[in-house]
This record gives sequence, C-alpha cells and structure tokens, in this order.
Amino acid sequence: MSSTGESKRGGFTSRVGFVLSAAGSAVGLGNLWRFPYLAAKYGGGIFLLVYLILAVTFGFALMITEVAIGRKTKQSCIGAFRSLNRKFSFLGWMAAIIPVIIAPYYCVIGGWVLKYFVDFLTGQGTAAAGDTYFKDFISVSSSGLIGNPMFWFGIYIVLNAVVVLFGVQKGVEKASRILMPMLVVLIVVVTVYSLTLPGALEGVRFYLLPDLSRFSPMTVLGAVGQMFYSMSLAMGIMITYGSYMSSEDDLERSVSQIEIFDTGIAFLAGLLIVPAVVAFSGGDTTLVQQSAGSGLMFGVLPKVFDSMPFGGAVGAVFFMLVLFAALTSSISLLETIVSLVEDNLHWQRRKATIVVSVGLLILGIPSCLGYGPLSFVSLMGMAFLDFFDFISNSVLMPIVALLTCVLVGHIVGTDVVSSEVKMNGHVFKREKLFKVMIRWVAPILLLVVLISSVADKFAIGGFVI
Ligand code: PHE
Repeated sequence: MSSTGESKRGGFTSRVGFVLSAAGSAVGLGNLWRFPYLAAKYGGGIFLLVYLILAVTFGFALMITEVAIGRKTKQSCIGAFRSLNRKFSFLGWMAAIIPVIIAPYYCVIGGWVLKYFVDFLTGQGTAAAGDTYFKDFISVSSSGLIGNPMFWFGIYIVLNAVVVLFGVQKGVEKASRILMPMLVVLIVVVTVYSLTLPGALEGVRFYLLPDLSRFSPMTVLGAVGQMFYSMSLAMGIMITYGSYMSSEDDLERSVSQIEIFDTGIAFLAGLLIVPAVVAFSGGDTTLVQQSAGSGLMFGVLPKVFDSMPFGGAVGAVFFMLVLFAALTSSISLLETIVSLVEDNLHWQRRKATIVVSVGLLILGIPSCLGYGPLSFVSLMGMAFLDFFDFISNSVLMPIVALLTCVLVGHIVGTDVVSSEVKMNGHVFKREKLFKVMIRWVAPILLLVVLISSVADKFAIGGFVI
C-alpha cells in the first residue's frame, strides 16, 4: 500500500457529506428513466416490493462491502483489491475500466439533458416535443452549434471537471450538499403536480397495486440488475468514496441512508412519471409500459409536459432535476477515475483532472456522433453508446460484483468487512444477513443476471439503456 496515497488523500468533512455524495452518485438517470419503466412493466406494486426486499438485503451487502473495503485500505479500487489479495489485482483493474467506459457516454447523455433543460427554460418546450426533434438532434441534422450534441457534451464535461478540480471537500461534497437537497425538493414538487392531473389516479393504481399477471422471474432479475446499477456498485465508485470516509463514522447507518435515498428517489420518479404518462394517454397504460430509456425521457415526456397546463415551467423544473441527478453521478465517475490516476501515477489533482477530462471528451466522440455521422458503424448490431452501455452494465459489472463476492465471501473472509463496520464500537446489526448474502445469495443472483442479460441481448436485441 502506498503511503503517499494515504497521506495526501482528501476526505469528506462529515458523515452527512459522505452520505450525500454517495447518494448523489447513486441517484442518477437509472432512477429516473429506468426504474419507473421497469416497475410499470414488471407488475407495479409487486416489483416495488421485490425491489425493496432486495435493496435491504442484496444491495445492502454489496454496498457495505465496497465502502468498507475503501475505508479500510484508503485507496481507490486498484490498490484496494491489491492490498486485500495480490492475486486479485486484476479485479481492481477490471473495476477501474468500467467508469472509463461509462463516463464518456454518460456525459453524452448529460449533454442531451442539459440541452432539453435549456430548451424548456427558454420557452422552446413545444419545439422539443416535436416528433422528430430528438432524432434530429442526436443525428446532428442541424448545422448550428446549439443544435449539435458535441457542443452540449463539451459544456457538460466542463461542468464536471470544474467540480472535481476543487477536490473532495470543496468540489464533490459541496456540489452534493447543494444539488441533492434541491433535487429532493424539485422531485416532490413535480410529483405533487403530476398527481393532480386529471386521470392521474389510474396511473397511480397501475404503479402501486401489485399485478401478479405481470409478475415473472424477470421481475426479480429486472430488480437485481437495476439495483446494482442504481447503487453505483461494481465500478470502484463506492470503494473510492469509502476511502474518503472517516473511520470514526457509523458505516452501517450511512449505507442504510444511501439506500433509502436512492430507493426513495426512484420510487418518487415512478410516482411522477407513470401517472403523468397514463394521464396523457387518456388512461391507457400501453405507452407507459413501452416507453423506456432515452425514448421516454426525450421522446414521450416532452410531449407529456407540452400537453399540461404550465407545461413549459414543469418541463424546465423536471429537466433541472434530471440534470442535478446526472451531474452528481457523472461527477462520481470522474472523481473515481481522477482518484485512480492520483493514486497510481501520483499526479496532482489539477493535472489529473484536466488530462482525464480531455480524455473523456475524446473517448465520448464515437458515442456522441454514433447516431449521426458515425451511424454506419455498428458493434454487435448496436450504436457506440448502446454497445458501451451493454458491455459495462450487462457484462463487466455483474462479473466484477460476482468476483468481489467470491473474494470477500470465500477467500479473504467476511471479517475484513465486519471488523471495519464494527470499528470504534459500532454494532453491525445486519452482520449475519450480510454474510449469507455475500457468500451465497448475491453470487448466485449475479450469475443468473449475467447469463440472462447476455442471452437476452442475443435473443431479442434492443436492450434498454
Ligand atoms: N447510479 C447511477 C444511476 O442510477 C448510475 C451510475 C452509473 C452512476 C455509473 C455513476 C456511474 O443512474
């Protein structure tokens, strides 16, 4: 373990700072555009129940493991896994590659969100609700700068870089302390408004009441897959954030709070989106079950807002909250990569941030132009962005999570985590549960998720990002 990494390492000012920053990473596009769709598709209340049970068992075990490893080793993932077991250095490298794959395309999408936010803010909401608006935008059909996704992608990266440049306390933590509470207020406001729309009640019923006819094993798999993406697991983020956490703080309580935050926002997003779309469709639930990912966010929702009273303002507020959610997530990706560079190359933060940001800008070009000038390229039948999303979320992340369970559960032993949690006299309330999960249940679920998502891709195609 390098002592340089430890002595110069930044840290959160307090437990709340850690919780808000980690929740900032967790709450992202996954909560807003994927969770509501999955809940609608896989049985409403029954999906919510399965998700909740998994969050306090499976999600809890994986997250506490990562945060504990980070806090114990005080290193980002490469060093952290290496110091747990030399033979598992490769796992640190694998985990480190994931943010490098995700960050560029996540920032491309962040740029799209920024563009829609500015559109609604400047009264262009009706134009943005046009049938071909989104397609024209991502296919770079307009010649102007404002209509070019590269422009928005560039600005979005600069926003992230500025925050990370300021370091852990003055950048990441400060941004999270401001943006996360604002996000909560905004989502509550728009949700309440959405619930007052005529016809919204039908959507609320559809979202909350369990519908066993929509329940299948896919409900469980969908929930597992969604969960570890949503909690920013298996990509070194929680290890890095854990490494900035004080050893005095109550780890178990912090992890529970991050989970509550993440699940709560996902739940509210569903309560906002499902009734709004159902009301828009005049009580029909077909559209809400079919709309997912970017099609929902940039295709359906602008139309829904445009049809409401005060739609321009609602759209602006909504895209602002999406922007905050996306920003705190991409900041965590950038911070994780910068931290890896600092730890392993011993560069200063300034140099690391600038070089990494420029690198991301270059790496993101294929994803940004993949639906336009580069659309002739297809990787396994997918555009660049969808391909990177598939490789990271459906292949690499389950593998890294699975191997982490094997390492902690069967090779180094669960005591590395337990002893870290119990540090300073804290009681590890869910220790037994954690052990069973990490040794047996989580690896099995992850293996099934891995197999099914790969099989699904080849059998059906059209994976939802
Ligand atoms: N947890 C984030 C979400 O729900 C996803 C994410 C992925 C965040 C990668 C950071 C990095 O959208």
